[in-house]
Amino acid sequence: MAGKPKVFVTRILPDAGLNHIREACDAEVWPEQLPPPYDLIRQKVADCDGLVSLLTDKIDAALLDAAPRLKVVSNFAVGFNNIDIPAATQRGVAVGNTPGVLTDATADMAFCLLISAARRVVEGHQYTLSGQWKTWEPLGHLGQDLFGRTVGVIGMGRIGFAFARRCRFGWDMRVLYHDVHRNEKAEQELGARQVDLDMLLREADFVSLHADLNETTRGLINRAALQKMKRTAILINTARGPLVVQKDLAEALQAGTIFAAGLDVTDPEPPAADDPLLKLPNAVVAPHIASATVQTRNAMAEICASNLIAGVSGQKLPAWVNPEVEGKRRR
Ligand code: DGY
Repeated sequence: MAGKPKVFVTRILPDAGLNHIREACDAEVWPEQLPPPYDLIRQKVADCDGLVSLLTDKIDAALLDAAPRLKVVSNFAVGFNNIDIPAATQRGVAVGNTPGVLTDATADMAFCLLISAARRVVEGHQYTLSGQWKTWEPLGHLGQDLFGRTVGVIGMGRIGFAFARRCRFGWDMRVLYHDVHRNEKAEQELGARQVDLDMLLREADFVSLHADLNETTRGLINRAALQKMKRTAILINTARGPLVVQKDLAEALQAGTIFAAGLDVTDPEPPAADDPLLKLPNAVVAPHIASATVQTRNAMAEICASNLIAGVSGQKLPAWVNPEVEGKRRR
């Protein structure tokens, strides 16, 4: 390859990664806060060897077809549901992600949402700010205890495990989990019990979603699922918004079918200004910030840069989503 490989980076990343990208590549970086439109990415990648994408960028077959030189898509996220992986593999394009480094930050956020929703912290903050706090109220602001309760983890991967570990050892909770795979480490170290979805929904005081978004998990938490949960239950979602049917959740929160929800992800993102969820006092909604710590975003940027640089040079990606592409990679 003559000169530096050409790459398009769809957002300004932390210097910890961007500086490496700029040193190794001829990089064009999209400078705006909002994502570049799909058609613009498609146009930009026409002569690129590498692409850094975010979870807000749709990378599909049509876009890959418009990029005959593209060797790698390095996603600045652990999730990669924004990328058509079979299409990338078919076309010889390697795909990287950022696993591992955001596990603890995301588990912390799930726990933060759980405490906030259980103890009505955001509602109380609004109450104070709006001048409604007049006195100490024996019956005011009553939430749910956390200690010694039962948590149900849907998706016992790295993040589900880290969250369950906090619940088990910090708050002495009993851990149930639902996953297509058995997690023996969770069973041995946390005493976790694998159960079917129905049982988890019926028995858990807190249900936390950590599953991938795919065609079997889309809409998993719908009206019927919410009706199986306890009236005192709390739903936490730090995974992907479409795991939950948002309209059904808003209705359940409004009707008192469940006690509260803590969401870091919604469907769509951001939710429409008139989404009923945003009017409910028992829904805590954060703007997809689970990985947003200085240390975590720096670490994500480093892995993202390493994946990109390895990809454009035809080397093994340090965090490789589709290693099965190896035999047919574009050179
Ligand atoms: C991811 O990495 O998939 C998160 O949703 C954002 O950090």
